Amino acid sequence: MSPRADSRIGLGVLGCGRMGSAHARIIAGLVPEARLVALGDVQVDAAHRLAAELGGPRVHDSAEALAADPEVQAVLVAVSSSRHLDAVRAIAAAGKDILCEKPLALTLPETDAAIAAADAAGVRLQVAFMRRHDPDHRRAKERLASGALGRPIQFGSLQFDMEPPPVAFCDPAISGGIFVDMGIHEFDLARWLMDDEVTEVMAYGSTLSHPELATVGDVDSAVAILRFASGATGTVKLARDTTYGEDVRTEVLATGGSVWLGSLQAGHSAVSGPGSIASDFPDPAIPRFERAYAEQTRAFVRAIAAGEPVSVTGRDSRAALAIAIAADRSMREGRPVTIAEVAGA
Ligand SMILES: NC(=O)c1ccc[n+]([C@@H]2O[C@H](COP(=O)([O-])OP(=O)(O)OC[C@H]3O[C@@H](n4cnc5c(N)ncnc54)[C@H](O)[C@@H]3O)[C@@H](O)[C@H]2O)c1
Repeated sequence: MSPRADSRIGLGVLGCGRMGSAHARIIAGLVPEARLVALGDVQVDAAHRLAAELGGPRVHDSAEALAADPEVQAVLVAVSSSRHLDAVRAIAAAGKDILCEKPLALTLPETDAAIAAADAAGVRLQVAFMRRHDPDHRRAKERLASGALGRPIQFGSLQFDMEPPPVAFCDPAISGGIFVDMGIHEFDLARWLMDDEVTEVMAYGSTLSHPELATVGDVDSAVAILRFASGATGTVKLARDTTYGEDVRTEVLATGGSVWLGSLQAGHSAVSGPGSIASDFPDPAIPRFERAYAEQTRAFVRAIAAGEPVSVTGRDSRAALAIAIAADRSMREGRPVTIAEVAGA
């Protein structure tokens, strides 16, 4: 089929490191609505190696060159978080839609600048909170939003990674630190599942398992206690590594029932009824969030094909980032921090 007769959206992936490689493979194998047409990375060797594995998409050495590629209709940005704003600006200037890895930027002013660049160019800007596209998470959201479980009163979420990224990556100047880099997923879920806004955070962290992270100003384990506008409460627990593998669990306690996502057993989600708990069992052969990453990109390209807006926006990233920044400040200053204090709301 000639490219012109092909109705699939031509996607470029900018950044061919850990996450960009995973996205490129998922697009090539699990996103039938898209064609992987180009890769970009300042380390062109890494991009060429990935291109050879994936059937030869073109390789570019900058965001500008990738965005200028006529076959690239939209770009998935997976460069280091500290480089997102430059990438978003370059791609928006070329008039191409953007799916950007989280966080959209490391500071609120840079996040606002990224949103403004996309708005000014009239391009879509979706942020990669992939758990919102995970079928289990969507089911939990639907169950809560239906009202059948009553009113959410407590949120709990933990994310324990299998192994820590390189120390250089953990540097808050590169990744934002543990609350921005990891916790932003939990803070986004807190807003989305509870249908509420976080107003205050108290947080603690330590470097008991990886003291080397202290040299760059990050921690390997952290806890945040959340207060919501409704009066509801929440906890977020983060760790850079476990001895037993990746562990991601979320629960919402509501007045008339609860939802659970993830567990140490096989079930990935569950729901309670009167006096009973029912589990939804996943296919154990599929990595935990592979489907979520694929569904996230499918939602992005479908929105483009349908001429519709994206569902997870730069403003969602801004709201979750404000909570992460409040948690980081609370941990460093040893006091509760309100979202109004950091977000100027
Ligand atoms: N959603 C998730 O579950 C998840 C998981 C891991 C990482 N991430 C996000 O993915 C992004 C990348 O993280 P990673 O772990 O893959 O990092 P990484 O360091 O492994 O890869 C980043 C790549 O970007 C390239 N790069 C940096 N600046 C560039 C520029 N200006 N132009 C072109 N290429 C450039 C680097 O050469 C490198 O290959 C981060 O924003 C991170 O927060 C998301």
